[in-house]
Amino acid sequence: TIPKKHGVSAESSDATGEAKYITITKYDKDFRSKQLIKDAIMDNDFLKNLDSSQVREMVDSMYSKEFAAGSLVVREGDAGVHLFVSAEGDFEVIKDGNVLGHMGPGKAFGELAILYNCTRTASIRAVTNSKVWMLDRKVFQQIMMRTGLQRLQDNINFLKSVPLLQTLGNEVLAKIADVLEVARASGDSFFIISSGSVKVTQRLPGRVEEEEIRVLQRGDYFGEQALLKEDCRTASVIAMHPGVECLTLDRDSFNQLIGDLSEIKEKDYGDEERLNKPPGTPCVEQQEY
Ligand code: CMP
Repeated sequence: TIPKKHGVSAESSDATGEAKYITITKYDKDFRSKQLIKDAIMDNDFLKNLDSSQVREMVDSMYSKEFAAGSLVVREGDAGVHLFVSAEGDFEVIKDGNVLGHMGPGKAFGELAILYNCTRTASIRAVTNSKVWMLDRKVFQQIMMRTGLQRLQDNINFLKSVPLLQTLGNEVLAKIADVLEVARASGDSFFIISSGSVKVTQRLPGRVEEEEIRVLQRGDYFGEQALLKEDCRTASVIAMHPGVECLTLDRDSFNQLIGDLSEIKEKDYGDEERLNKPPGTPCVEQQEY
């Protein structure tokens, strides 16, 4: 019998804020088993790019099954219903009656039919009395979906905590969360810092060096001025340490979703006074992030 730990019910939301219940049963296992499953997943070319929360959920949701020597674990041509990780024993891979190879413990298999919705591309036979870890296809698919939803929910929760966005309704926040991207240096984007600190620097009149004028951190934003005024960047923004992460909106999304907020429209950093620059002065150089 399979030792059942608990059915975990998590309430998530989709992009429209609608509640959804997804129940995934988790099974207790010892540290070595968890490590073996994790290493097997990370070693599989088709599974290694799953994110760490997906791998963790898969590890927790697998249950064990024993196979007697000589029995088939997977039959070539069948529909795939499980993903496996070999735990104990020796297995052979058979295709068209030919033995293609052997596997010991710590190998993920049966992933192809699950991932690509095709029939089993080979048979897997237990050569010795063996044990495998198994994951049901439906659970695998739910894990794939739920972590996507969870990421969206995490972004919505984070956006709710950003002071600038506090007046926006759930629907707009969900739309913003949906179109957000992790920043990859662009000169045409609006940025919200999701982790770390940046410093804002400007070259003041008569100075050669740029000077630090403020520090921004998680929840602060930048990049709105050039988008609002269709102007050049008013300052440079420099990551203060490795690993600074920003969520970004492109110009169109910014204008449609955020550009009308009064905080944004009325934001005045005092740049014109400080830089001695009347509004509308043409750009001398374009600052890139
Ligand atoms: P799937 O097609 O779902 O079921 C059979 C599994 O055997 C397949 O996924 C792979 O995990 C594995 N497999 C297929 N071909 C080979 C091969 N040439 N060598 C090792 N494993 C294989």
